[in-house]
Amino acid sequence: MFYRPEDGHGLPHNPFNAMVTPRPIGWISTRGADGRDNLAPYSFFNAVAYVPPQVMFSSTSAKPDRDGTKDSVSQIRETGVFCVNIVEYAMRDAMNASSASLPAGEDEFLHAGLEKEQCRTIDCPRVAGTPGALECKLTQIVQLPGEANFAVFGEVTGLHLRDDCIVDGIFDITTFQPLSRLGYRDYARITEVFSLKRPDD
Ligand SMILES: Cc1cc2nc3c(=O)[nH]c(=O)nc-3n(C[C@H](O)[C@H](O)[C@H](O)COP(=O)(O)O)c2cc1C
Repeated sequence: MFYRPEDGHGLPHNPFNAMVTPRPIGWISTRGADGRDNLAPYSFFNAVAYVPPQVMFSSTSAKPDRDGTKDSVSQIRETGVFCVNIVEYAMRDAMNASSASLPAGEDEFLHAGLEKEQCRTIDCPRVAGTPGALECKLTQIVQLPGEANFAVFGEVTGLHLRDDCIVDGIFDITTFQPLSRLGYRDYARITEVFSLKRPDD
């Protein structure tokens, strides 16, 4: 089949994000100017550069109690910092609970029963016990076509790696099985890894 987005797909559910898979999940923690903490998962998320290390995530749609966006982007606008927490399979239910659309100012850490730790290079909480976390300073927010679509870019200023995830000098994802987002309500966890040498190696 072929369709143009403006014509509609005619399927029971939108196939778009099922075609761009698997997507990593950036579990974004922020602290508002009023000191209130927020946490939410974003699967329009990726690393975008090595030197300096940079990441991005994209927020779509708005909450009625925020200024044309959702809590995460709104708080990042206020403070210029955010933290990306890595989601392991074991934390899938807490991650999902933190996606609830709570009123602005309500803390998803509490809602999802999660402990906090303080970031070291930015004034921001992070999820305690995750396999890894990236402390980030905002570089730019790009308004994308459509309503309330924003891509948020950040430079990584500090990296946390859980000690048990470092095996023989590598960040060994098989120890924690990162959760990734598929289409619909589907997810995958990484259980098998293989390597390929590059032509120029
Ligand atoms: C696994 C997962 C991935 C998600 N990815 C995105 C995303 O990339 N962009 C987005 O705008 N919302 C995404 N959502 C929905 C947000 O998490 C949800 O709207 C949340 O309430 C936003 O929280 P906030 O207002 O505290 O930022 C995702 C939800 C889940 C469960």
